[in-house]
Amino acid sequence: MKIRNILLSACLAAGASASAQDNTITVETAKLGAPVQPTMYGIFFEDINYAADGGLYAELVMNRSFEFPNPFAGWDISGKVSLQNDGPFEKNPRYVRLAPSGHAHKHTMIENSGFFGMGIKKGAEYKFSVWARCPEGGNSKIWVDLVDNATMGDDQKIGNGGVEIQGKEWKKYTLTIKASKTVEKAHMRVWGDSKVTTDLEHVSLFPVDTYMGDENGMRKDLAQALYDMKPGVFRFPGGCIVEGTDLESRYQWKNSVGPVENRPLNENRWHYTFTNRYYPNYFQSYGLGFFEYFRLSEQIGAEPLPVLNVGMACQYQNEIRDEKKVHVGMDDLKPYIDDCIDLIEFANGDPAKNQWAKLRADMGHPAPFNLKFIGVGNEQWDYKDNKAFSKRLKVFVEAIRKAHPEIKIIGTSGPDSEGQSFDLGWTAMKELKADLVDEHFYRNIDWFKNEMNRYDEYDRTGPKVFAGEYACHDRGKKWNHAGASIYEAAFMTNLEKNADVVHMATYAPLFAHVEGWQWRPDAIWFDNLRSAKTVSYYVQALYAQNKGTNVLSTTIANPTPKGQDGIFASAVYDKESNEVIVKVINTTEGSKSIDIKLNGLKNGIAKVNTITLDCSDYDMENTVDNPNAIVPQEATLKAEGSTIKANVAGKNFVVFKIKK
Ligand code: AHR
Repeated sequence: MKIRNILLSACLAAGASASAQDNTITVETAKLGAPVQPTMYGIFFEDINYAADGGLYAELVMNRSFEFPNPFAGWDISGKVSLQNDGPFEKNPRYVRLAPSGHAHKHTMIENSGFFGMGIKKGAEYKFSVWARCPEGGNSKIWVDLVDNATMGDDQKIGNGGVEIQGKEWKKYTLTIKASKTVEKAHMRVWGDSKVTTDLEHVSLFPVDTYMGDENGMRKDLAQALYDMKPGVFRFPGGCIVEGTDLESRYQWKNSVGPVENRPLNENRWHYTFTNRYYPNYFQSYGLGFFEYFRLSEQIGAEPLPVLNVGMACQYQNEIRDEKKVHVGMDDLKPYIDDCIDLIEFANGDPAKNQWAKLRADMGHPAPFNLKFIGVGNEQWDYKDNKAFSKRLKVFVEAIRKAHPEIKIIGTSGPDSEGQSFDLGWTAMKELKADLVDEHFYRNIDWFKNEMNRYDEYDRTGPKVFAGEYACHDRGKKWNHAGASIYEAAFMTNLEKNADVVHMATYAPLFAHVEGWQWRPDAIWFDNLRSAKTVSYYVQALYAQNKGTNVLSTTIANPTPKGQDGIFASAVYDKESNEVIVKVINTTEGSKSIDIKLNGLKNGIAKVNTITLDCSDYDMENTVDNPNAIVPQEATLKAEGSTIKANVAGKNFVVFKIKK
């Protein structure tokens, strides 16, 4: 790790030098500005880059119900294995029949290779489960081996156990297996009985140690990374996933709830969207469905923000060529509107009065999830002569307002951060009185430099802003360069200063598997065993963890001109900790002396803690091999009076936490 060259000293204002005066940041501490919304600085989850199956969702078996178009995708089979189609789960009817091999020295076996292998840790326990029966009667015994088939040692097994299957009825069987070795790309073999035919369905393997120990739970390190960020809001399930390439492939939340065995498989559009990174076996099991999502939101303390389909397939992939064929006709929107209203009931309703609320209770959460927001439509837009999006959204808004006036509705200004469709979108959202508008900007450094004052002039009377997907993509390289993250930090001073109009912001996308990504940069990278928080993640986390409760007016003596590098700053007061928190970003190459002048402090500064993120090594990034290349560094300053003098090194982001 590079030794940081920033450092900081504090002294009385009287000692400030002439050059430091140029960068004086004045914070008015006596007058509290707009409240910072609790929803600020959240997470955007989409099942892209193997974020769900193979990622956050801790299931290790790919294609556990044999429902992939290729029923044996992810499986190697040997001996007498056949596919059947009349299983116990209506929406996933397939299962496998393991017939006796007919010879004592032959075997019938299925072997799953997981998602790029299965990450297995020495000493950890794994829960195998399966629905099984002996269709011809009798009892059988199946063997389950976790194997390291890359080893050249005597035995490939790194853990195993046996399960007795009894009788003709389908039953669920479980087995706990302890692993004797850490293997990044293990497989799981299930051996049939040599004498009795055995049917297997929903063949599953989870680590016992999921996040918070949940059944059907989340991978612990990844969920913990979300919790650690202290996110204010949690958007789900996307992104373009909401729309689908066509309506058939859109995310359908009703298929993602109820018994996990009976959730039908959905095509994941990211398996083919980018042909340069094509993943033919990328599907959505819906194992991480809306119940698991609401549960996780609660566990990590973030407001859930579901986004549902507005009756339109992805406009990028379909434009408007054949409106009625591609999108839902205006007269046929009811099931889509019902989806929104039923989701609100699923989250908040009374189990005694509503079937969806009852399902939530049956799934183990009788108390409401306290949903407050719903997004309708992802990157939708109107055309000059066709209000394709807003005419549909209007019908949703009327119906949702009628059924649930307490819920805030989020519309969108489409995929562009400015221009015709963006303007049409905002005009329509104002007319419809949407509560918030979802804006997206994946843009380069120049764009960010030009937009450092983006929200200063926004209309204060209209809908609020949800910066729902953004990231600085530099020089077309689209990697997680520290040199790009510093511009996200600088830009976010403007989100913070405009807390009265910007109510939510979520960097995107969230997760990426190192072997399965389609889109970068991303906030968190992982392989089967390890994960790495990127510098952009830390930028988000530093804002979320230090968001405060109220904005404080902050001025810079020489504000950085539009489009240029310089000093950027914002400040908040935190009622709970009684701290003034000032964020300072230096996007220039060189170190800058700054004075932070805290006006209105009666008794001066008691103590200053600083947290510094050094982005000066442009190409540096945190990877699973080197996850701590750039991490926030904490320090303490002694201070007297009401001015802090500090040197902020080039391309550094410093959070000053000031005890009054
Ligand atoms: O974050 C990746 C994609 O970018 C999202 O699915 C979509 O909304 C945007 O275009």
